[in-house]
Amino acid sequence: MAIYKVLLLLFAAVTASSASSTRMFGGRCSKRDPNVDACLLRNFNSLIEYMKGGAPELGIEEAEPIQIDELTIALGGGPDGYRASFNDIRATGASNMTITNVRSDLETHQFQLTLFGPHISARARYRSSGVLLLVRASGGGDYWGEYDGVKAKVYFRGEPYTRDGRTYLKLVQLKLDFTVKDIQMGVENLHNANSVLQAALNLFINTNAQELLKEMKPELKRDLAEKMARFLDHILQQIPYDDWVVD
Ligand SMILES: *[C@@H]1O[C@H](CO)[C@@H](O)[C@H](O)[C@H]1NC(C)=O
Repeated sequence: MAIYKVLLLLFAAVTASSASSTRMFGGRCSKRDPNVDACLLRNFNSLIEYMKGGAPELGIEEAEPIQIDELTIALGGGPDGYRASFNDIRATGASNMTITNVRSDLETHQFQLTLFGPHISARARYRSSGVLLLVRASGGGDYWGEYDGVKAKVYFRGEPYTRDGRTYLKLVQLKLDFTVKDIQMGVENLHNANSVLQAALNLFINTNAQELLKEMKPELKRDLAEKMARFLDHILQQIPYDDWVVD
């Protein structure tokens, strides 16, 4: 192939990739901008908006629903302690989350994002064993949860490296935490349970929703952090760092 054709192809590839990054981001942020965090906030949000329905060119599937295989909680010790496991968890509404604050340290490539989601819904199947409220509460059924005012903090740190003449970030650490302002949840279609037990369980669950969330949180955080790290690492591999931050 003639050299000019190669150059032409290269040029086309470069302009195409920078054009699509601009479309995703809405521009680059300058490290020297005193308001660089506000610029990153805008750009991260436009990237989220762009990826909402999936972005096949980045190898990203539709974000909804988030699926989690299993979570378990244990309340009280001993052989009769109450244990519940939740399977086939499907949560929707996370794609409606927006970033409300960004704090960055571009020298060390650390980022802390605050996110807010107005509403997340979850459905799951659950199985339980042990005693709850002095009642033998072994059985299973369907779980539903409606979570309002979800606030999350995500911290991540990257390390720059060069690939094909471009700078990329490799994700080296990610941590997350979250709170939910208002939780409504319950169980239904219980096997081996009468309506009195189901009503008692639902009363208990709703009265202790925050406590139950706290019990589930370590596992939930681990699982979500792992999913998010995989997702973020994938994006960082696709989009050069010098496409979103310049000197
Ligand atoms: C996102 O928010 C809009 C507007 O409130 C709502 O109509 C839509 O159902 C939400 N999407 C999901 C997946 O919850």
